[in-house]
Parts: sequence; structure tokens; C-alpha cells
Amino acid sequence: MSSMDLLKTTAPAKVILFGEHAVVYGQPAIAVPVMDIRAQASITPGERFSIIALDTGQSLTLEHLTQMVDDALAKMASLTLAWLQTPPPPFTITLSSEIPAASGLGSGAAVSACLGRAIALACGRELASADLNTLVYEVERIYHGTPSGIDNTVIVYEQPVYFVRDQPIIRLNITRPLHLVIADTGKAALTKDSVSDVRRLYNAERAATEQLIGQIGDITRRARPFLEDGDAAVLGHLMDENHTLLQKLTVSSPELDKLVSAARAAGALGAKLSGGGRGGNMIALVDNTQAQVVQDALRAAGAVRVLTTSVVQGG
Ligand code: PMV
Repeated sequence: MSSMDLLKTTAPAKVILFGEHAVVYGQPAIAVPVMDIRAQASITPGERFSIIALDTGQSLTLEHLTQMVDDALAKMASLTLAWLQTPPPPFTITLSSEIPAASGLGSGAAVSACLGRAIALACGRELASADLNTLVYEVERIYHGTPSGIDNTVIVYEQPVYFVRDQPIIRLNITRPLHLVIADTGKAALTKDSVSDVRRLYNAERAATEQLIGQIGDITRRARPFLEDGDAAVLGHLMDENHTLLQKLTVSSPELDKLVSAARAAGALGAKLSGGGRGGNMIALVDNTQAQVVQDALRAAGAVRVLTTSVVQGG
């Protein structure tokens, strides 16, 4: 590693393969990091502590940290400094991200994770992943109300995870690469809103909603061994089933459904929305040879951003 590398921290995007929304109610979910789309923080010595977010044009100094309690960057910075029990280091931390915001790819958690690591680095300190995960979760609460914790976990650990709320993290060992095409509807949607709508549905139609949530949990449990064995055909079917259940939970949208259908028609093994839904991204599981055809079909169906990534990880 060169000395320049030491002045940077990064964190990946993520997608949820199975189990979003149901995970809020105690069911398992499976999420994987998207290693080739990342947020980054660089640190440079300065006269005083400051944070610059290039994508939003936001600029924060020490005074902002106490004043802006509902701001994610200010909160992450003050939580990290308090955790490290250290005065703010005289460094400028510059943040940038390739991860589109409000689209279910975990951009907020990734930026928080880089920022926490960058502050620790500027202080010459280590921040253990478990501690960073706790801090990022606190910040996620600004956006998500009561998030399950899946986003921060997969992003901080950079590992595929089988996640059950409030339980120890299970890392998944994905032995054969999974090829995913990720397509963005271009419609920003707040996870907080879809999560509260599912809560309303749950309160209004408890038995039917519990049944849907349970069925999503069953799909996630069934998917786990196939992920570890790399059986993409079965996983594709399970993704299709998961999408149908998410439609019934009311968190899909015409734009997402259109992209999901286009991917399947172009030969994807399976497709579903990923994350909070209503907008944001969908994912399609493809055989490597089909990736380009599926990408083209998604663009033709209106996707504003399409990318292909491979997931493979030793646990
Ligand atoms: O951040 P998103 O949009 O990928 O969604 C997170 C997944 C949900 O299950 C919808 C919410 C949660 O807190 O787990």
C-alpha cells in the first residue's frame, strides 16, 4: 500500500438480494456489497477540522457538529469523535460518492462509514468494524426511523450477510460468482415512507400482512444454501417469487415492474426490486453471457443507470 492509500477510506454500495421489508419484522434478509461502486473519504492536514462533501456541496466545520443534530454528516462526525474520546483533528475530510442517493444502494451508510473511518485515521486511531457499525446505525436512524441495520452491516463488513435483526451477523460464503445487473428507475423514493406504509398495512390487515412477511422470510431461508452453492437458476426463481410478494406488500411501482419484466423477457434468471422500493433500483440475476442483452433491454425500458457487477466472496 502506498502512503497515498493510507490517507483514503472507502466503503461499497450494497444491494438486498432477498428479504427487504420482512427483515424489519424479524425475518432474515440477504444482502451483498457492490464492491465496484463506492464512497470515498480523503484526509488532508489543515488548520482546523472540516468536512467537505463534494456531491452535495456541503461544508461543515466544528461549530456545525453541535448545531446540526439532524444532519447525517454532522451526526456521524460528532458520534465518532465522542466514541474515540478525542478532540477534532486538524484535518479536512473530503467526501465523494459514486453511489446514487435515495435509490436503495446504501449511499448514506457508505458515506457515514467512510467518514467514521477517516476521522479515526486522522486521529491516528483504529475504529473496530463492530463499533463503526454501531455508529453508522445511529446515523441511519435519521433517514430510516427504525432501520433493521442490514445496510450498515453489509457496508461496514463488506461481506455478503444473512441478516436477522438483533442477532449476531452471519457472513455468507458465496463460492461461485453471481452476476447481477442493477438498474435504476431514476425515481428517488424514501425508504422511510415505504417502511411506514408497510407498517400501516401490517396494523390494518395484520393476518394477511404477517403471512406475506412470513412467506418472504421462507424465500430467504430457502435461498441461502443455493447462494452458497452458486445455483443461479434456483436463485432466479426465488427472486421472482420475492418480487411478487413485495408487490403484494405494495412497495413496488409501475417503473420497477416494467424493468423487472424487461429483464426477465431479455433472459435474466430472475429479477426483483431491491431495497425500500417504490423507485430506486431493481436487480436482475443473469448468466454472464446474457449480461449485455439484459443491460440493453433495461435501458430500452427506461432505466436511467444500468451496471453489471459480480458477487463472489469467501466468508
Ligand atoms: O435502504 P434501502 O432502501 O435499501 O432499504 C433497506 C431495507 C428495508 O428492509 C426496506 C428497511 C430496513 O431497515 O431494513
